[in-house]
Formats: sequence, structure tokens, C-alpha cells
Amino acid sequence: METTRRSGSHAERHGPHDWASETYVEEWVRRQQSEDAERAERFQLMCDLLPFPRDATVTILDVGAGYGPVSKFILDRYSHATCIAQDGSEPMLRHARALMASYGERFKIHRSDLFDKNWLPGEPGSFDAMVSSSCLHNLRDFTRISEIYREIRARLTPGGVFLNADLVNAPTAELDGRYADVTAARRQREGASPQSVEAMVREGRSAAVKTPGPFPATLDEQLAALRAAGFREVDCFWKDLRRALFGGYV
Ligand SMILES: C[S@@+](CC[C@H](N)C(=O)[O-])C[C@H]1O[C@@H](n2cnc3c(N)ncnc32)[C@H](O)[C@@H]1O
Repeated sequence: METTRRSGSHAERHGPHDWASETYVEEWVRRQQSEDAERAERFQLMCDLLPFPRDATVTILDVGAGYGPVSKFILDRYSHATCIAQDGSEPMLRHARALMASYGERFKIHRSDLFDKNWLPGEPGSFDAMVSSSCLHNLRDFTRISEIYREIRARLTPGGVFLNADLVNAPTAELDGRYADVTAARRQREGASPQSVEAMVREGRSAAVKTPGPFPATLDEQLAALRAAGFREVDCFWKDLRRALFGGYV
């Protein structure tokens, strides 16, 4: 039987998420997997931005890998690549082990808490790329996220890249409200009930008035933090309202 809890660790405390709970993670993975086909477009863009050929022997770190969808997407396209899936949640990593069992030595797991200064695996000394999807906003601490960017930068090989698909705040409260309206209109077209759409608009509007947004930073702040960490050729490669794929090269 594997250990399932590290009581009180940062990796367990994520506002609405309980990554240490077997049942919560089970349900979350089931829901998320139903969106993997839609996410494939972003995963493909991540692959297309990797600065090496498809047959390169490379090692890639998947930061906050969860059940391993990004690692799986990469390993299916880069036949000589190895992915190391870093995450703090044992239930999540158990799903990853099951999903990725057939990849043998090409898929490895590294369990660590991103608030721990030694969160990176000791080996290898450097990585050809690091990727992350829907993870870092969970830390809710932009100072720590900015430090992590520096830690990532220090362990990338020259010519390597860091690509981060994550949630960002709208640049202004007004745009935040506008984005809530767009999201509600989309949900309506998908068949959500008028009551739930109205509630979504109300919630979005009041959240926008109270705060600059629920996530740690805007896209501009994220890009500035990457530049400050020493990345070059920093850009946002894709964006839809509060979801973005951004990163930089070394
Ligand atoms: C929303 S899931 C994303 C999983 C996967 N990358 C994906 O795109 O489906 C966020 C992941 O970040 C991990 N995580 C959150 N905070 C963490 C922390 N402080 N240390 C390590 N992992 C953390 C969670 O355990 C979870 O697996």
C-alpha cells in the first residue's frame, strides 16, 4: 500500500483542490480526461515549440504532471525522449503510473512539493525542456512562482525551453467581467441552463469588482517574470481569455 498523505504540506493546500484526497483526485482526473481531446491542440503546440527533432534523445521535466497527459502526448511523438513527471500528490502520481505503465524507463516519477527549494530532481543535472500544464497557478504565490522560473532556467541546457500552459488574470477588472460574459455565452451555446449561466455572470461580475482576478498574475506579469528569470525569446504562444500558453528559451 502506498502512502497517500503528507499532512499539512503545501502540495495539499490548494484552495478548492484537495490533491491529497484519493476520491477528489479520482473524480478530477475523470473530468479532466474528458477534456483531453480539446487540450490536445495546446499539447501539440507545446511539442511544435520544442527546439529539437522528433528523434532526439532528450529528457523533459513535466512540472506538476498530474496523471501525465502532457508527458504521454510528448512521449507518443518523440520516440527517444524520456519524461520525468514531477508532482506533489501521491494519488495523482498513482494515476500517472497506471496510465504510463507501457512506457517503461522512458517515463519516470519524481514526487516533490513545489514550495520546497529542492523540488527539482537531482538527476539529470540539466533538462532539454521543461513543460507545465494547469499547475503553477495552484501555488497562489507569484513570488514563489517567479523563483521557480529562476530555478527552472538554471537547470535547462543552452537552447532549451520552458513552456507553461496556465491560467492568467485578465489585465483589468473590466476585461475580467467581459471574459465572464464570453464564458457564459459559450456555456449557453453548449446547452447550460439559463439559471446556471445567470449565476456565472453574477459571480464573474462581482469577483471582477472585488479583485484583479483569482489567479496569481496577468499574462504581462508572467512574461516579465520569465524575462527577469533570464529567459530570452519570451512570448505568449496561444491565448484564449484567461488560459494561455507562454514561455521562453535559454
Ligand atoms: C490541475 S492539475 C494539472 C495536472 C496536469 N499537468 C494536467 O494538465 O492535467 C495540478 C497539479 O499540480 C499539482 N500541484 C499543485 N500544487 C503543488 C505543489 N505545491 N507541489 C507539487 N505539485 C503540486 C497537483 O498535485 C496536481 O497534480
